[in-house]
Amino acid sequence: MDGWLEALFARHLRELTHPEVSRALKALTRDYVQRRGRIRGDAFAGRGKRAAFCLYYGPRHFVMVREVLRALKPGPCKAEIVDLGCGTGVASAAWALEHPGLVVGVDTADWALAEARQSWRELGVRGGALRCTLDRFRWPPPPRRIVAAFALNELAPALRARLLQRMLDHAAAGGQALVVEPLATRITPWWSAAALSVQEAGGRVNEWHLSAALPQPVALLGKSAGLNPRELGARTLWLDGTSGGIAPVRLPVEEE
Ligand SMILES: C[S@@+](CC[C@H](N)C(=O)[O-])C[C@H]1O[C@@H](n2cnc3c(N)ncnc32)[C@H](O)[C@@H]1O
Repeated sequence: MDGWLEALFARHLRELTHPEVSRALKALTRDYVQRRGRIRGDAFAGRGKRAAFCLYYGPRHFVMVREVLRALKPGPCKAEIVDLGCGTGVASAAWALEHPGLVVGVDTADWALAEARQSWRELGVRGGALRCTLDRFRWPPPPRRIVAAFALNELAPALRARLLQRMLDHAAAGGQALVVEPLATRITPWWSAAALSVQEAGGRVNEWHLSAALPQPVALLGKSAGLNPRELGARTLWLDGTSGGIAPVRLPVEEE
């Protein structure tokens, strides 16, 4: 991970200064994370905010997914990892580095997909990035490993329900599926219903307060933007069908 971070910081700090990225991280956090329900348009507009996402939220999500997987201890599975709303590709990269396999990232943002390809190269992960909206994505047959990290909360209810159902189906067919979302329930009002279905299927629902430290340059950037890089919290839905333990379940229809 150190080599990747070094290359990542060098790449982004060639064109922007540390204080510029720090200011952009503050603005991104305010617009994207804290006012989520109220913003319109592209929260990642502008080089500064994109760099801030790549340098802070990317590595932060990488560490969270890695730590969660270490705690969940998935059964052995070499199937391809499909990363829904992959952004800069960190969730699938973390999974592939813990449990090797090819990755496929799906996202609509060209800048994020370019970043994902670059990061996978630098991390030694093999995979491809697909520019496609999730409602048009043609799912490969199960079993696969599916991850959706900090992505489902961005989707319309009907699409989110369809993807969750696909994840349940993949796990019931012997695959694995991981959903990661922030602890704040304000942006995930659908969580309780999804969690009930996951539990009914035999999966796990967890809240994590992780004690792992962020790598130093990432933590310093967070601190400089007034964030607390020591607070690493997330909630997850986990379905591990590798030993046949996931039953077929239908999600209840979500109210629009
Ligand atoms: C907060 S980012 C999370 C990225 C990454 N999974 C991570 O953990 O860092 C959410 C991503 O979902 C993507 N996204 C949102 N709606 C989408 C859709 N309908 N189809 C494909 N990607 C979508 C966005 O472009 C963005 O890259």
